Amino acid sequence: MCGIIGYVGHQEAAPILLDGLERMEYRGYDSAGIAVRTIDGLQVKKSKGRLQVLSDMVRGGADLPGTLGIGHTRWATHGEPNDINAHPHVSEGGNIALVHNGIIENYMELKDYLMSKGVKFTSETDSEVVAQLLEFHYNECHDILEAVGRVLRRIEGSYALGIISSDMPDALIAARKDSPLILGYGADGNYIASDVTAVIKYTREVAYMDDGEIAVITPDGINVFTSEMDPVEKEHKTVDWDVSAAEKGGYPHFMFKEIMEQPDAIRRTVFPRIRDGRVVLDDITITKEYLDSVTKVFIVACGSSYHVGMVSKYNWERLLRRPVEVALASEFRYSDPLVDENSLVIIISQSGETLDTMAAMREAKRRGGRILAIVNVVGSSIAREADDVLYTWAGPEIAVATTKAYSTQLALMDLVGLYLADLEGTVSAEEYAAVVEELQLLPEKMEKVLEKKEDIQYFASRYFNHNSVFFIGRNLDYAMGMEGSLKLKEISYIHSEAYASGELKHGTISLVESGTLVVGLGTYVPLFDKAMSNVVEVKARGAEVLAVTVESMKEKMEKNADAIVAVPDTHLVVQPSLGIVPLQLFSYYVALMRGCDIDKPRNLAKSVTVE
Ligand code: G6P
Repeated sequence: MCGIIGYVGHQEAAPILLDGLERMEYRGYDSAGIAVRTIDGLQVKKSKGRLQVLSDMVRGGADLPGTLGIGHTRWATHGEPNDINAHPHVSEGGNIALVHNGIIENYMELKDYLMSKGVKFTSETDSEVVAQLLEFHYNECHDILEAVGRVLRRIEGSYALGIISSDMPDALIAARKDSPLILGYGADGNYIASDVTAVIKYTREVAYMDDGEIAVITPDGINVFTSEMDPVEKEHKTVDWDVSAAEKGGYPHFMFKEIMEQPDAIRRTVFPRIRDGRVVLDDITITKEYLDSVTKVFIVACGSSYHVGMVSKYNWERLLRRPVEVALASEFRYSDPLVDENSLVIIISQSGETLDTMAAMREAKRRGGRILAIVNVVGSSIAREADDVLYTWAGPEIAVATTKAYSTQLALMDLVGLYLADLEGTVSAEEYAAVVEELQLLPEKMEKVLEKKEDIQYFASRYFNHNSVFFIGRNLDYAMGMEGSLKLKEISYIHSEAYASGELKHGTISLVESGTLVVGLGTYVPLFDKAMSNVVEVKARGAEVLAVTVESMKEKMEKNADAIVAVPDTHLVVQPSLGIVPLQLFSYYVALMRGCDIDKPRNLAKSVTVE
């Protein structure tokens, strides 16, 4: 949601903080700020708007000399995005500056208490309460670490905190609960950050903070403690991707780069898991015996990850011949879910930090369910808490609108579905081999679709000024359309809806009039003719139809569509992985033509760590 960075070492802190914030701007971008301990004490600069405004304000950091500091890029929850509500927040006495990601749920109560003691607040945020409370306790005990301990015992909710104090010239303090925070061990100093992308330029050696931990970071080392202040030995991990993976590398937008990276991301995710024509999932321990004991299968996720679940429901039910329930994490967690010790719960999350998804996972676990997580970010909270984890190897995804993470999740879910179906004995040898083969051919076929980008750009130029779009399709096309529609609305702000074609006639077709844009999806060959009749129905009511189909059906589709993109044929389990690519490109080009901020769409954030 928000991005946090902290540095203490032998270098100037401010340029490092600004650079780290720039790499994390995708996490939130309505305001930003930094605090540096200078020889004149704590200096804080913050500003509404993009990071560039702040960077210009402090002349790239030159105005804030000092080797200890914290920074923050915000996605507003409490209080509108403005200079005052931006972080860092400073205590009334000016002794403490703090950055926070998460939500302090009992902040009103604490604020009332502090105000009754005469403390004056300047912002509307829940985060300022933590800074004020910290100073309040510090004034009682004159020991900053002890004061942090007291504060953490009083606050409820989620937090990643970075704290500096004018009384602590060489150290910053970090704490975490339900909000990601990593520790970075560098040659010239040490770091804290919400995400490894912020520090990868400086160090590859990191450790992941666990809930309840407090860390004291100095130029020469990092000491971590439990909430009872017992020392903790952290396992150091080496980040193995290159810094260029988190940079645009000549592409105009991260989203475009990430769309183009999909074939390689699929290769990395799929190829090592297929050996001699067999799906090998070394990382999981699910056996035939266990699977026989499973009575319910759930897939739980949010956003695009949920859409992967929708596609997988169709595919898994086909392969496994058993019901699969897909749920939105934000609904599932409060639905008194029917999970028990015989339930297998698949959790899908790119970031591994989405709060609703994490809460749903914990609820399922509490009820005895076994958790298999599909996650992209290594070491993230969901990855660490799940019983089994399978990583998508998409690499860092920076654009808010997901593309390569979605594609790798989809391919990995196909592999898992196939693996489980094989254990169950519900998939024929022929079908198993055909899906495996097509998954291996997927990157190449995807490249063929990407080669058609100019055609899609042309269609976008024809349709970018439409204000309402329907994505219609049946079965897997319907599930895929949900993602296509989300992509379009996320980055181009065009109202769009995905509809099961057969359901249109029960109400929604009344919205179709002359010139309405309908994206007709016809890649699911078994129901092509049915889908086609629905396309004809909307055409008859004046709709303009942009069709996405497979090469084998192109000719048939041409008769009824105004514009057409054909993707290579593949096994129908794998087909959505190809069909989604033109939809991603279409959204991208439409947003480009409408002058939208593609990588950082309004009101959104990539990693949503609040409810
Ligand atoms: C945010 C992102 C979406 C993403 C969703 C779930 O809303 O903007 O692109 O699909 O979170 O995120 P996750 O990291 O759990 O997959």
